[in-house]
Amino acid sequence: MKALILSGGMGTRLRPLTHAMPKQLIPLANKPVLFHALEAVRDAGITDIGIIVGDWHKEISRAVGDGSRFDLRVRYIRQEAPFGLAHCVLIARDFLGDDDFAMYLGDNVFGDGIAEAADRFRHSRPAAQVSVTPVGTPQEYGIVETGPGGRVSELREKPRRPRSNLAVTGAYFFTPIVHDAVRAIEPSRRGEREITDALQWLVDQGHDVRAVEVTGWWKDTGRIDDILDGNRLLLDSAESRIEGSIDAASTALGPVIVAPGARIIRSHLRGPLIIGEGSIVEDSYIGPHTSIGAGCVLSEAGVSGSILLDGAAVSDVNGIHWSVIGRSARVGATPAGTARHRLVVGDHTELDVVA
Ligand code: DAU
Repeated sequence: MKALILSGGMGTRLRPLTHAMPKQLIPLANKPVLFHALEAVRDAGITDIGIIVGDWHKEISRAVGDGSRFDLRVRYIRQEAPFGLAHCVLIARDFLGDDDFAMYLGDNVFGDGIAEAADRFRHSRPAAQVSVTPVGTPQEYGIVETGPGGRVSELREKPRRPRSNLAVTGAYFFTPIVHDAVRAIEPSRRGEREITDALQWLVDQGHDVRAVEVTGWWKDTGRIDDILDGNRLLLDSAESRIEGSIDAASTALGPVIVAPGARIIRSHLRGPLIIGEGSIVEDSYIGPHTSIGAGCVLSEAGVSGSILLDGAAVSDVNGIHWSVIGRSARVGATPAGTARHRLVVGDHTELDVVA
């Protein structure tokens, strides 16, 4: 079995971060979302990977390389524009050949990986298999209706009036019959070739399409809140590892990861949290569910439930919570007694300051 990982798309809902990087390289627990995807596919016993890339192809291929450091063989397939998930299957035809394959959305994270779903597919080998889970807002997802044994009877992409709350997540499994389906369908109203329509085509032709419930948590990291929540969920299973230094005047409680070269000075760490290589944390408090990237500097700062990307700096500001601070961005305080905020805010940035 091969795998097709979808890493194109625009990521407009993740601006301003996606002005500077593809959404699949945003780090959760200090590891790009796409790396979590590659590991999930590898742990499901798949080593031959095609990655669909769009305008960010250079950044993605620079980060992943030939896949050897993940024990994978990676090939890149260029998509001119985000013409839809089924379009990705169309353009990957040469790579996929007549093999069965997993299709994994490169902005999805599964707490328990996809190995169990892959085994189910290998064992029963229906024409296609989707991984599903109940959601609170079904109009934001592809939605399935199922009959006995999880056989799919109907699928709809982001329906206005959903008839079920079972969402299709980002792990699909296909036999080669899907190539007929992606050729047969037309672009949808939003101009994309929808994989949901290709699956419906298979159902209409009498093929066996199965839904398998996801075990563990699942996150589509399409929005900032999902990124923060995915980071929180991943850190919840972190185990302590201190490779950097924590001085005698500091305290560390709960699972804490301090990467090589990081220095914690007169500070309080309350895990689960991770501090990246070479970062300096001085006279600060770092609270639960915080990921601090490499080369960050925190001084007299208080941060919890947040993500700081590489090179970010925070000084003299407390109470930073559920926030994302971009690469080499700086957050500081104005001198005491000044009633003004000085802001240099990039495009599509969000800021909430005390009124
Ligand atoms: O996350 C689950 C949902 O993913 C499903 O419930 C929906 O049925 C499915 O259509 C999809 O919806 P999204 O709106 O979340 O898809 P998104 O545009 O975010 O694309 C998912 C991934 O695929 C993302 O990593 C970008 C990549 N992509 C997307 C398109 C449209 C491509 O590589 N090429 C594309 O043309």
